[in-house]
Amino acid sequence: MFCVAIDGPAAAGKGTISRAVAEHFGFAHLDTGLLYRAVGAKMMAGVPPVEAAQNLLPQDLDDPDLRGPEVAQAASKVAVIAEVRAALVDFQRAFARRSGGAVMDGRDIGTVICPRAEAKLFVTASAEVRAKRRFQELAAKGLANSLEEVLADVKARDERDMNRAEAPLRPAEDAVLIDTSELDVDAAIAAAIQAVTERG
Ligand code: C5P
Repeated sequence: MFCVAIDGPAAAGKGTISRAVAEHFGFAHLDTGLLYRAVGAKMMAGVPPVEAAQNLLPQDLDDPDLRGPEVAQAASKVAVIAEVRAALVDFQRAFARRSGGAVMDGRDIGTVICPRAEAKLFVTASAEVRAKRRFQELAAKGLANSLEEVLADVKARDERDMNRAEAPLRPAEDAVLIDTSELDVDAAIAAAIQAVTERG
């Protein structure tokens, strides 16, 4: 098993980079944010979050409605609950175990879920750059109202993710930092593939 942990704040480019790294090395990919989004969506539908996390099924991650900004906020709210995080640990570790090679992206993969990952990346960008990218992405799907709203959303989630007691967002000590503020997609992907190759 070879595990690539890719952490970082919302909309820094983790998803794009993770998919490209997984494809390049022929590894499986898990977007762990989807787990928290699925629990957040269930909470919005009235299910208590701990119960939702304990009963999560793989098919719950297939819902395209999980991508919207309201679900993102709900995800970061359920993500502060220790019992919710604990209920999702096994799902994530089992994914890494049963894949020959796995790329997992999230907030705590290198610090908590796979602390012995062969390669760890921490992908960041300024809040303004991230908000602009996320706005363009959401606007293309008809899901965003304004850039200001998206920026406020990104900052609120950063704040909650970095300051929670349980598995706060921070780079693992041995993570390679990639700041994508000034990088285009191809350059960011190339930097990530190079970092993984050097660790492998
Ligand atoms: O990555 P994404 O933006 O989809 O994640 C949604 C929310 O889920 C994050 O803001 C964060 O609060 C939470 N999350 C987490 N740990 C992870 C992945 C996501 O706490 N490994």
